Amino acid sequence: MKNNGLTIAIDGPAAVGKSTMGKLIARELGFLYIDTGAIYRAITWKVLKNNIDINDEDTISELVSNTSITIEKTDTKNLNDYYHIFVDGEDVSEEIRDPWIDQNVSQIARLPKIRKQLIYLQRKLAEKANIVMEGRDIGSVILPQADIKFFFTASEEERIKRRYKELIEKGYNIGYEVVKKQIIQRDKIDSKRKYAPLIRAKDAILIDSTGKSIEEVKDKILKIINKFREYRKKQIENNII
Ligand code: CDP
Repeated sequence: MKNNGLTIAIDGPAAVGKSTMGKLIARELGFLYIDTGAIYRAITWKVLKNNIDINDEDTISELVSNTSITIEKTDTKNLNDYYHIFVDGEDVSEEIRDPWIDQNVSQIARLPKIRKQLIYLQRKLAEKANIVMEGRDIGSVILPQADIKFFFTASEEERIKRRYKELIEKGYNIGYEVVKKQIIQRDKIDSKRKYAPLIRAKDAILIDSTGKSIEEVKDKILKIINKFREYRKKQIENNII
């Protein structure tokens, strides 16, 4: 790898715990954490704010060209406030988690032009050494050369329950059935789209978190990462790479 750092890719369906785990691992290892879903959410926020039709690929593409998206890590240890995301300088970290964004984001994320534009931004962000990047197509399209790839899974019911609880705790007045519908619909669009669908890369390690605690999953992942680091160290010592 050109920067001699470690690149970790995490992919998986909606509400599977990628963000929680991604942040925990990045914090533990002192790595940079990049949530690519937040980028798609940020674009969706701007599209909806400007009343643009979510199917109007050309207009959205122009909007993406004229949008600056920046991510800044905070100093806090609080995982819910781990980083802030800005659209043209405006902090939208809270707004992009609104169920209204969930309702629309996958329609925009399925547009090939938009994905192609965002590949550049995502790869640029990943140029730094030692990163954890999560999304839907990280191991398959954005960083196919990632050192370690994980594909997260959990039962649909558990994922819906997790996201419902999360939204209720944040104070949203939303029904379980609405959350269920949004997650099922998002997964369907994300997996069925032609360009860069949600897919498990051939060399991705499957992590099923159904019925498992956050600590259990974290320990398992850290073990895999540490094993890889030892292996890499030996390779370097033996001049293999
Ligand atoms: O947190 P959650 O799993 O609900 O979703 P997210 O990671 O914030 O992603 C929101 C949406 O962005 C997904 O449902 C996808 O439609 C889209 N997305 C994508 O298409 N490709 C990525 N690499 C990341 C997100």
